[in-house]
Amino acid sequence: MSKNVSIDWSNLSFSYTKTDLRYVSIWKDGNWDEGKLIEDNMITISEASTAIHYGQQCFEGLKAYRTPNGDVQLFRPDENAKRMIQSCNRVMMPEVPVDKFIDACMQVVKANLHWVPPYGTGATLYLRPYVIGIGHNLGVKSAPEFMFGVFAVPVGPYFKGGMAPVNFTIADMDRAAPHGTGAAKVGGNYAGSMLPNYEAKKRGFADCIYLDPITHTKIEEVGAANFFGITSDGKFITPDSPSILPSITKYSLMHLAKEYLNLTVEERDCYIDNLDEFTEAGACGTAAVITPIGGIEHKGKLHVFHSETEVGPVTKKLYDTLVGIQFGEIEAPKGWIYKV
Ligand code: PLP
Ligand code: COI
Repeated sequence: MSKNVSIDWSNLSFSYTKTDLRYVSIWKDGNWDEGKLIEDNMITISEASTAIHYGQQCFEGLKAYRTPNGDVQLFRPDENAKRMIQSCNRVMMPEVPVDKFIDACMQVVKANLHWVPPYGTGATLYLRPYVIGIGHNLGVKSAPEFMFGVFAVPVGPYFKGGMAPVNFTIADMDRAAPHGTGAAKVGGNYAGSMLPNYEAKKRGFADCIYLDPITHTKIEEVGAANFFGITSDGKFITPDSPSILPSITKYSLMHLAKEYLNLTVEERDCYIDNLDEFTEAGACGTAAVITPIGGIEHKGKLHVFHSETEVGPVTKKLYDTLVGIQFGEIEAPKGWIYKV
């Protein structure tokens, strides 16, 4: 892109744009190479790569934010690095050390600085780190080589409308198995979610909610985001389950709810037959940020929380606090912000 091309930053969607440079590092014979920035956004790998046939891969998602004085900062990249180590372990791939992960993210943001949306547009530069099994391999076993890459894309809201409430329906398919890979950020979890997502959208919902795979009575995930509910007595409640992706946004909100908003925080079961306990509900994640849940369709009925059109007061306060910290308007808890 010419540095002078104008982009309608305020109306970006969550979709791919090729930016200038991306980072690639290769693991071979027991070591990661130093890694480098490249222009080409196409990768050439063996047709027998484990990433293609057996889903041996994982990914991450984090954002770079432009602050009011024009600086650029990352939000808790060390947490994404640590989660990627967990994902790599789960699918037998070599770990990317935390420092290497953060350094790669920093290099990519610095190399694409003019793609970081201006402060005030609400848009951000989304970073997509990934590890894939590559090299020639046929049997179901770990790959001989791996690639760690990071690319960057300017993005707007993941769910249309941003902070406007949206409705969800309950999926009748599962996203994760009881002792499966639900807590790892691996592609297979997402491949399995495409059909229920498509069907939910066809029926006018933003996405679907997954229930626990054993009893189908407890809320687990809201599409590619975690769930939270607010009770009438001011508690922040969020599900606890080994098959949920441990959302960095959710753990950040738990801290902010307690320390900044003085709410009681509980990680515990959220029963789909007990939605009445919540006066507000939301989806949270890097891409979703906080998306208020207007209503949830279950057993043919739409259960509306606060409103289908208005954001509830606690959800709004949580959003303002989280986003204020991410964009550098509010002082962050120690260690959460990495200046680029
Ligand atoms: N749950 C799933 C299935 C996700 O894909 C994501 C996105 O990363 C989240 C939750 C939210 O996690 P985080 O807040 O770390 O982005
Ligand atoms: C994220 O929030 O970063 C995600 O990974 C969600 C989705 C785009 C897969």
